[in-house]
Amino acid sequence: MADHDSRQGHRYDSPEILDYLNQLHASHGGVPGAGLGSELGKGLAQAFAAPERQGLPAIQVGMSEGKLLAMLLRLAGARRAVEFGTLAGYSAIHMASALPADGHLWSLELEEKHAVAARENIAAAGLRERVTVLVGPALASLPQLESQGPFDAVFLDADKGRYDLYGRWAAAHLRPGGLLLVDNAYFFGRLLEDSAEAAAVRRCHEEAAPSFDSVCIPTPDGLLLGIRK
Ligand SMILES: C[S@@+](CC[C@H](N)C(=O)[O-])C[C@H]1O[C@@H](n2cnc3c(N)ncnc32)[C@H](O)[C@@H]1O
Repeated sequence: MADHDSRQGHRYDSPEILDYLNQLHASHGGVPGAGLGSELGKGLAQAFAAPERQGLPAIQVGMSEGKLLAMLLRLAGARRAVEFGTLAGYSAIHMASALPADGHLWSLELEEKHAVAARENIAAAGLRERVTVLVGPALASLPQLESQGPFDAVFLDADKGRYDLYGRWAAAHLRPGGLLLVDNAYFFGRLLEDSAEAAAVRRCHEEAAPSFDSVCIPTPDGLLLGIRK
């Protein structure tokens, strides 16, 4: 059920509730394939802690959002996926863990320092062969990728001011039935503001709506989910 307040955006979560549920449902040792002490669980924990430990911005997805990405890829039977914005590899490890052994994730990252950390964490998770991190502005790396498509899933989590371009690329390179996933779909609460970045995120939503069966999942900052028509 929902009540009037929750339909208007009121939330019933709290740091304590989120922590309790993250530990119960999304602990790093509990993801499929990650028995206690396994490489995958260690790699996830290492990547989640990496930003603070290695002086990178701590802007990785939350534990539940990471697990949700992996579960959506599993449900879609994804084999080939693309991520915009690698950081230290936390979401990349979740996504790659959901692909079959012959599947592949290409993750695009602007900063060499982030890519170095990500490759280290992905290797620690035992997923070195399943993930390629391409360094440079995402738009410059895309032409190298196109021969690998069509893709089963595309996750946007890089610079929000280019979400319209990234979303357009995803629509052109996802197979019918493929998944578009867009983090920060509320743009940190500024989605309806009059700024170039907010307008780019709105264009991403507006162009996705007719090409995808879409819904915006109310995660803390919104996760747009689209199934390519
Ligand atoms: C929010 S972080 C990604 C977090 C990661 N998806 C996770 O949850 O573990 C955004 C990343 O996008 C990268 N980025 C920013 N602009 C970019 C661009 N034009 N091309 C590729 N990556 C970019 C940043 O350097 C940063 O590492």
